[in-house]
Amino acid sequence: MDFLDRLRLDVPVVQAGMGGGIAGGRLAAAVAAAGGLGTIGMMPPVELRAAIARVREEASGRAVVVNLLMPFARRHHVRACLDARVDAVVVAFGGDRALVRELQDAGIFVLTMVGTEEQARTAVQWGVDGLIAQGREAGGHLVGTVAALEFLPRAVAIAQDRPVLLAGGVAVAADTAAALAAGAAAVVAGTRFLLTDESGAHPEYQRRVLDARITLETTVFGLGWPARHRVVPNAVTARWCREDGAPRRAPSLINAWSGPLARLTPEKLNGSVLRLQRPQLPLFSPVAPLEGEPSAWVNRAALYAGDSALRMTEVVSAKQAVDELAA
Ligand SMILES: Cc1cc2nc3c(=O)[nH]c(=O)nc-3n(C[C@H](O)[C@H](O)[C@H](O)COP(=O)(O)O)c2cc1C
Repeated sequence: MDFLDRLRLDVPVVQAGMGGGIAGGRLAAAVAAAGGLGTIGMMPPVELRAAIARVREEASGRAVVVNLLMPFARRHHVRACLDARVDAVVVAFGGDRALVRELQDAGIFVLTMVGTEEQARTAVQWGVDGLIAQGREAGGHLVGTVAALEFLPRAVAIAQDRPVLLAGGVAVAADTAAALAAGAAAVVAGTRFLLTDESGAHPEYQRRVLDARITLETTVFGLGWPARHRVVPNAVTARWCREDGAPRRAPSLINAWSGPLARLTPEKLNGSVLRLQRPQLPLFSPVAPLEGEPSAWVNRAALYAGDSALRMTEVVSAKQAVDELAA
């Protein structure tokens, strides 16, 4: 089966579903209309249904895709995907065979993001339709453990005939070409689409990403979800991380015990949580700053970005991003 045909793509470019309001219907629709695969990131179920409808309306005939961020996904999110008969779902940072089957029984194409051979084998055992092989250089939360191009062939070998997409380090068309030459069916880009006009990220967050000279792998923004993530530096990492990104003792201990908080997390976190966070207080949630919020919040929140950011110089339209990655 050809991945591009199955999901009606003109080009092998996939926009990562970025949760918490960064990749909403506006971005996914713009990417889909440009011939790529737009993915709606995690959001409250009512908004998710509206975003699905928006993509259908603004990118008629294109595939609709939803990213289910499993630590925060509830039954209502799954229901929204099933009811709307979306074309594909990316099951990320969790999942199981029963969920994969349920989605597939509704005709939905299921992808899972993996970063180790063991995770790839597990996903294949679940019966997923395709894998996303994430590299450690990727932005946002990480399952990736080695460079994407190093991991890709291992994932391809495990996936048998299933398509494998490469995520991490995709900034320009040459990166897409290298991934395809190494056996990828398409590329998944997050940071490139974070830095678009249609993303929901705060403009000051985008500016910090463009200005960054390094990224940090850390767990400091791990309250409620103590997983590894890649960010650009800000006042929080300056105060609470060592040079290599590892958090100091206080946030490490607090985050390590905070896992169950994800189950209590209210549907709409953003504003309410960031209002309470302070650079001096080692309690940092995974919430990222969105447009419309105070600019100062970029110094108290996670500024997710991948190493690909270090090769980007401007915010562009989503269409330009698709065209530039596909050229
Ligand atoms: C701001 C941001 C938010 C992200 N949020 C999610 C998410 O909600 N779910 C997910 O599966 N991956 C998420 N990712 C990771 C992407 O799926 C992808 O692996 C990564 O962006 C690839 O690396 P790149 O950013 O260098 O393109 C996020 C990435 C970024 C940059």
